[in-house]
Amino acid sequence: MDLEKISLTGAPETLLTTLYCRAVDSRAENPVLGDDAAARAVERVDYDFRRTGVNRVTAAGVALRAKQLDDWTAEFMAEHEKATVLHLACGLDTRAQRLAPASTVRWYDVDYPQVMELRQRLLTTPDGDYHTIASSVTEDDWLDSVPADRPTATVFEGLSMYLTEEDGKRLIQRIAERFPSGQLLFDCYGKMGIRMQKLVPAVRNSGATLHWAIEDPSVLESWHPGLRCRDAIRSLEIYRCDKFPREGRTSYRVLSRLPGFKNVGRFLRYEF
Ligand SMILES: C[S@@+](CC[C@H](N)C(=O)[O-])C[C@H]1O[C@@H](n2cnc3c(N)ncnc32)[C@H](O)[C@@H]1O
Repeated sequence: MDLEKISLTGAPETLLTTLYCRAVDSRAENPVLGDDAAARAVERVDYDFRRTGVNRVTAAGVALRAKQLDDWTAEFMAEHEKATVLHLACGLDTRAQRLAPASTVRWYDVDYPQVMELRQRLLTTPDGDYHTIASSVTEDDWLDSVPADRPTATVFEGLSMYLTEEDGKRLIQRIAERFPSGQLLFDCYGKMGIRMQKLVPAVRNSGATLHWAIEDPSVLESWHPGLRCRDAIRSLEIYRCDKFPREGRTSYRVLSRLPGFKNVGRFLRYEF
């Protein structure tokens, strides 16, 4: 079988890092996600994965972040039989395949056109009421094609930091204005995370630039009436999980106590 040539650069190229993290996790003795589809996709692309700088610790970190967002999305679907899920900046993530939504859930995977084309070539299409949208989430019209009739969970992993704060604010406001109720489930970087961006191999090697830092999650509550932050989990706290590799625990524990570092990243759940 011919391998897929990869011509992505900038933010879209970074999807290969998170894909590779899930693939590495799937081969771990005690995997967090067990995402075998990620491992199969990795084997089908022609890409030098050494560019990602991924090791066991970073792979487990990304898998645990994905697991947290999977769990919140699953919780939302369990609470709302007829829900819509918007999975923004989906990259090559098989979240819909992992969560297998009920047929009453309408699911949208959204990313840039070149990413959605690659996705179609590498991944199987999930069953059910499944749709794709090939667009930047900062474009004006992509949201018009999503019916506004249901409670809607919008999950976006590894996206917020690539947006400017202005684009992130506009995105959140458009979603909260459009749907009757819902949740926003995503991860963010704090100021220190943005400041240290060139230390992240995926960012440095792809030429991507990170912009938006969220230092105080409560600030977003003022962006839309009724928007409330329900959970804000510091990403460094994942060292407490028994599936996090031993070799990363001490450094994560120390960093999680340093005032300058402890807010380097967060997993956020808002409701409206
Ligand atoms: C770090 S990757 C994460 C991909 C996926 N969420 C995952 O966890 O594997 C960043 C993703 O954000 C997407 N992205 C960045 N800016 C975007 C935008 N304005 N609109 C849509 N997707 C965007 C990229 O194409 C890429 O797929």
